[in-house]
Amino acid sequence: MQILGIDVGGTGIKGAIVETSTGELASERLRIETPRPATPESIGITVKELIQQHRWSGPVGIGFPAAIQHGVARTAANIDPSFIGLPVADYFSLQTGCPVQVANDADVAGLAEMRFGAGRDVAGVVLIVTIGTGLGTALFSDGHLLPNTELGHVILDNGLEAERYAADAVRAAKKLKWKDWGDRLNHYLITMENLFWPDLIVLGGSASKKLHKYAPRITTHTPVVPARFLNQAGMVGAALYAEEMLSRSRPGIG
Ligand code: BGC
Repeated sequence: MQILGIDVGGTGIKGAIVETSTGELASERLRIETPRPATPESIGITVKELIQQHRWSGPVGIGFPAAIQHGVARTAANIDPSFIGLPVADYFSLQTGCPVQVANDADVAGLAEMRFGAGRDVAGVVLIVTIGTGLGTALFSDGHLLPNTELGHVILDNGLEAERYAADAVRAAKKLKWKDWGDRLNHYLITMENLFWPDLIVLGGSASKKLHKYAPRITTHTPVVPARFLNQAGMVGAALYAEEMLSRSRPGIG
């Protein structure tokens, strides 16, 4: 099945048609800057534009940078606070005219990695960390997702919120060298390791493409690997999530 997967990020909104049986992209990837302020209306218009650019009228999956509880946005760290309490899937469906499913961006990136990527067939606990404007996390146990873990917002033992210390946006804003920023990420990953004892840590988001530059600074006992889909995991996973939701609503399937 083909589904348009969209990843709403703090700086860019990316979309591509995804072949859900393989996780491969079936179209080129298009990207539009995230509008500021990132309100429901402005993001809805951008999402609609991406849908039109793909000449798409079928189902759409969106990975969204907020805790999404039963279709309702509950947090808004890097988007406009007016999203809080909004039934985002219904809102985007209405605005675009396409059936839209929405889930947390890191959770859907994790789905892509567990199904077709670095976490495939990995038993035990897998932690996916997406590193971009924010720090997103997805936690799996034997392939099962515990949704909406907002572990980018934990307070580290230096008193700072992890996302404000180790996100890729912090590296860029402070012009940190990769290895110096790598020490910050390592601090975060060791904190996560001591709390969750994962068997594998998968890094996604924009910084995952540069892992070779800071890998020597990572001292966790847990193996740390880049996402197979790198920063495309969110788009791929958004499509997989939408397919899963569609199959659940069709009697006799799934
Ligand atoms: C948000 C998360 C999101 C992450 C990555 C955080 O600020 O709270 O929901 O997964 O950024 O976008």
